[in-house]
Amino acid sequence: MSVPTSQYISNVWKDGIFANKVVFCTGGAGTICSGQVRALVHLGANACIIGRNVEKTERAAKDIATVRAGAKVIGIGAVDVRKYDSLKDAADRCVKELGAIDFVIAGAAGNFLASIEQLSVNAFKSVMDIDVLGSYNTLKATLPHLVASGTKHRIDSDSLEPSPIGTGGRIIFVSATLHYRGTPFQAHVGVAKAGIDALSNSIAIEYGPRGVTSNIIAPGPIAQTEGLERLLPSDTKADYINSQPLGRIGHVRDIADATVYLFSDSGSYVTGQTLVVDGANWRTSSGS
Ligand code: HXC
Repeated sequence: MSVPTSQYISNVWKDGIFANKVVFCTGGAGTICSGQVRALVHLGANACIIGRNVEKTERAAKDIATVRAGAKVIGIGAVDVRKYDSLKDAADRCVKELGAIDFVIAGAAGNFLASIEQLSVNAFKSVMDIDVLGSYNTLKATLPHLVASGTKHRIDSDSLEPSPIGTGGRIIFVSATLHYRGTPFQAHVGVAKAGIDALSNSIAIEYGPRGVTSNIIAPGPIAQTEGLERLLPSDTKADYINSQPLGRIGHVRDIADATVYLFSDSGSYVTGQTLVVDGANWRTSSGS
């Protein structure tokens, strides 16, 4: 099913800005991450998307590839981010088939609503393993390639002028805002997302000298996502939307545009940051 361009990317970006770049994305068949990858592919990148479900991942890859003639998009299913070896194999295949990994999106996540009393130790551990260990495994499996790309595109410290050498060696973790204030029935996810935020900060400091940038995108409530469907009962949706500061919830395109900015030349001096894309939702008293 083809998605109209205006639904997945705004019209302010220049075609081809990501020509010859390769993006590796976990959770790549999900609504938000497939939207991020679709925008990057539209602007010239090739991509490798990773998922647990083989059929869903391969279908998403095929669908994303339709946005640009000549785009190469590989879907690698049956990869559980909790298992380092399967991620490493996927990263190696991505480099073998597409030549490099310039950008990484760590988007795989697990979530359900449960009170702390209902949450078994194993349930807590499952979310920690998918989100925190999975993000770490994703980083670990792709780091040599990020460093290679970052080093190639690193701006010389003697250079006083903005450099035209392009962009590479960038990672974005998809986090959330629910741990900023504390969200009921989300203790497991809040702890996990706080860990991911901390991981990103460490990478920014430790790998900045090798040209790698690391940032967080923290989406607010985004239409048509599994997260929103699960967390918001349908009979309260209209009131919830009307109560938002901008009078709307987010679209996948809002997250895709933020991703394009952070991976583009425009974002080259932004690292160790969290870009909250939530229409100020979390600052409201009812924010997640
Ligand atoms: C309480 C639950 C539960 C629930 C599972 N468990 N669902 N406990 N309430 N609704 C418990 C199980 O009983 C088990 O504990 C443990 O969690 C592991 O469950 P499994 O099914 O064996 O694990 P697994 O198959 O690995 O599934 C992982 C999962 C699942 C996280 C539980 O929901 C999943 O795979 N989700 C991936 C997709 C997903 O959630 N996407 C949404 C992302 S949205 P016991 O003790 O019985 O062994 C998102 C947005 C966040 O992240 C921001 C929102 C604002």
